[in-house]
Amino acid sequence: MAIRHLLDTQEFTRSELENLLDLTSALKQADRDGAVPQLLAGRSLAMIFEEPSTRTRVSFEVAMTKLGGHALYLKPGEIHLGFRETVSDTARVLSRMCDVIEARVLRHETVVELARYSSVPVINGLTDFNHPTQAICDIFTMREHLPDGRRLEDCTVLFVGDRTNVCSSTMFITTQFGMSFIHAAPTAYQAPAEWVAVAESNAESSGASVTVTDDVQAAVQQADFIYTDLWWWVDQEDEIPQRRAAFMPRYQVNADLLSRAPEHARFMHCLPASRGVEVTDEVIDGPQSIVFDQAENRLHAEKAILAWLTYPTISHERSDQMRRHHERRARSLLDAHNRKRAVL
Ligand code: CP
Repeated sequence: MAIRHLLDTQEFTRSELENLLDLTSALKQADRDGAVPQLLAGRSLAMIFEEPSTRTRVSFEVAMTKLGGHALYLKPGEIHLGFRETVSDTARVLSRMCDVIEARVLRHETVVELARYSSVPVINGLTDFNHPTQAICDIFTMREHLPDGRRLEDCTVLFVGDRTNVCSSTMFITTQFGMSFIHAAPTAYQAPAEWVAVAESNAESSGASVTVTDDVQAAVQQADFIYTDLWWWVDQEDEIPQRRAAFMPRYQVNADLLSRAPEHARFMHCLPASRGVEVTDEVIDGPQSIVFDQAENRLHAEKAILAWLTYPTISHERSDQMRRHHERRARSLLDAHNRKRAVL
């Protein structure tokens, strides 16, 4: 069976994504019942991180453990990725030792290169371009919090603020699922034309719509889900004054903005959040916020993603028989050696 990677949700059909969401739901219930199936027993996940992480790191490691496997945290600077060793050599070595690789890398090209040379599935754990595992978790969370009697296709997602990697992934997955997507931001921070082209192409087959606007006050009136993300990341700290001036106060998700949305509207954030900057405490801690359900769902989505990509690559039919064969063989070699040592 051909190896599949998860670099971008655009590489998946809607039917495949729906299957992943159903698997997420099944594995969430299995967790609630304390009975997660050991689908990846004895398997190893290499987790490469070029940047810090709370949710991605913890959710992947716990997910792998719950599925019966083991995860290795390869923290920033710990391996020779692109430094003293090419990315392609790292991919070839890790895929000889591990069954699946997750990578949070600074440049999207790095995860593409890892996948090109890996013989096991590679999962994008966030790049400068996108965050597909977050997007799968988010659409699952939206499906759990739909307004009464509505389907995803009947809902509007408003993404407020900077055109981050989470913005691109939200734009792509919501339009794959036929939702109306609006990006509201000052002109200089709006989704670029190439992202809009991808979303419009999704919309042609799914019936979605795509809007990019600076009029957040009008957009929020239609929003079933209001999503925001950080206004600056670590490598943009020298731009803080101009970014703050561009976004504040108009694009802050605060009680005033939320009061203009339908009462059933839900607030989402991928986290980490800068409280008092892109969102206020009263919103993130308020009754319309689903950010901690969203964070928990990273764990359930990671279980599904790991199993969906890795389970088909493992031979299951012969495993019990083969295990007994190899156990007999190894024991007989060890016993023969021990008998020799006893004589000496
Ligand atoms: N949302 C997200 O990816 O969080 P971390 O940076 O903590 O992994």
